[in-house]
Amino acid sequence: MAERLQKVIANAGFCSRRKAEQMILNGQVTVNGKVVRELGTKVEGHEKIEVGGVPVEMESKVYFLLNKPKNMISAVSDDRDRAVVTDCFSGRDVSQRIYPVGRLDYDTSGALILTNDGEFANLMMHPSGEIEKVYVAKVRGHITNAEVFKLEKGVNIDGRLTAPAKARVLSYDRRSDTSMVRLVIHEGRYHQVKRMFENLGFAVRKLRRTHFSFLTVDDLAPGEWRRLSNNEVRQLRELALTENKEKTQ
Ligand code: URA
Repeated sequence: MAERLQKVIANAGFCSRRKAEQMILNGQVTVNGKVVRELGTKVEGHEKIEVGGVPVEMESKVYFLLNKPKNMISAVSDDRDRAVVTDCFSGRDVSQRIYPVGRLDYDTSGALILTNDGEFANLMMHPSGEIEKVYVAKVRGHITNAEVFKLEKGVNIDGRLTAPAKARVLSYDRRSDTSMVRLVIHEGRYHQVKRMFENLGFAVRKLRRTHFSFLTVDDLAPGEWRRLSNNEVRQLRELALTENKEKTQ
């Protein structure tokens, strides 16, 4: 897909997008040997781009599914030096600058996608196209189906109702006085699942994302990852675009 020249230069890690714009305007950027000064110029990705005579190496797009362990930050670095999800990829033949698509809390485990494709990441996280995510929560206390039904209809978080969801009690353990609940949501608001349960008066003790759309991490041990196939990436795009369209109609 064609992308703006300044974005391609920035995505290649050459410099910031703003700096790339400045260099284009200054006539320092060539595409296939010709100086380009137009900021709107689009490139496909196969052109020879040079900035000040230095070739811009374009990264190929990569997509991974990680089974995020708990006690790990969904980021590429942490100012408190805690483990981050990209640590799972270090020394493993992944040279691209990947980052997580959205976030799971430090203490949440499960399915997390990482990529270096900004457009794909935005599509996955777009509020109107958010694709289905399944969580299994262990909550303190005995929660009933009648109570979790309130989650389906929507609860108030920060003055706004959550979108329709699906919820079902899986089990109750009398000894530990905890309930397991399966919750399917489309949104990705900050601490959404924990706050939905808090709204009902139940604290989440453990949270796991079992599915990101049709993807599961059943075959991956915590900290393990695999590459998504081209077909999976295409299907995710199609799902997000379809849901975007349906919601705007
Ligand atoms: N909702 C939460 O509260 N935490 C997560 O990590 C994901 C969804």
